[in-house]
Amino acid sequence: MLPELENLRTSALSELEKVTAPPELDAWRVRYLGKKSDLTNILRSLAGLTPEEKKEVGAQANQIKGLLETTLKSKEEAFRTIELTRQTAKESIDITLPGRPSTVGRLHPLTQTVNELCEIFKSMGFAIVEGPDVEMDYYNFEALNIPAEHPARDTMSSSWIDTGEQERKMLLRTHTTSVTARVLEKMKPPIRMIAPGKVYRYEASDATHTPMFHQIDGLAVDKGITMADLKGTLYEFARRYFGEDRKVRFRTDFFPFVEPGVEMAIECIVCHGEGCRLCGTTGWIEIMGAGMTHPEVLRRGNIDPEEYTSFAFGIGINRLPMLRYGIDDIRNFYANDLRFLKQFQV
Ligand code: DAH
Repeated sequence: MLPELENLRTSALSELEKVTAPPELDAWRVRYLGKKSDLTNILRSLAGLTPEEKKEVGAQANQIKGLLETTLKSKEEAFRTIELTRQTAKESIDITLPGRPSTVGRLHPLTQTVNELCEIFKSMGFAIVEGPDVEMDYYNFEALNIPAEHPARDTMSSSWIDTGEQERKMLLRTHTTSVTARVLEKMKPPIRMIAPGKVYRYEASDATHTPMFHQIDGLAVDKGITMADLKGTLYEFARRYFGEDRKVRFRTDFFPFVEPGVEMAIECIVCHGEGCRLCGTTGWIEIMGAGMTHPEVLRRGNIDPEEYTSFAFGIGINRLPMLRYGIDDIRNFYANDLRFLKQFQV
């Protein structure tokens, strides 16, 4: 039986030598060390041998078994090392490669403008309030001294919503002044607030009109508020947004919810008052409507106009970045063309 063992050892080792991939190792193990292998059979048959034979053959068989097991182990180890080296090479990072730039989003120019305006008014003590885009006729018109049939309604072509009920008339708000009507009803003076948001007019788009655009309304209510407070606040705003020495002009205008009403203009940013195409040769650019809140509007909010006075203003937000950056078509803000939007770095 000894020569048989010797043969087994030689062929097992030479077979193992030839193994080139881990799956073959398993087949080899089954064949030479498995339950049905020749070696196991020999070890099992030891019982039938004489004590001397048993001693000699047993020792030899066990020695071969040990040898095969350790050789197998080191072969497995070698395969593992090769695999690890391969993996590491595959996953290694070439730190000399130039980095891939990651695309970072930025804020929409209108969002940037709203944020900037909010900061300016916040620093003057105004709180920021929001109201619903879908508004009741009452807050958009009635409470602002614009009853049904009032001609002012015609200047704000409205998108009405079919509520099915005549007494619950609703529309997409035509101005953020609707939010000030809500605030007057809910809050007690002193009040200082601004309301930024989207407004809607039922009209066709062109370079200066879109059916949806952005406004900010402002409101201050307290004892003893005068026109001088209104002018001071809006001067300060113009200085902060358009620059220190920007000239400002107030002229009378009419809005049903203020009395007196004014329109505020700034000196033309292109020609500085000389007269050019942008300002229509007048030298001035109108940027907002404002005025002293109408007593009737205060009364609607249960505020006594004998005790409290108030000023209000409303700015079209799109106008401001258009003037500052020389944007000549309002539709750019809503077309979502990245080539346009990317120009406005935060
Ligand atoms: N709501 C007006 C508009 O959309 C703008 C306006 C004018 C708002 C005067 C005001 C104001 O608060 O006092 O045309």
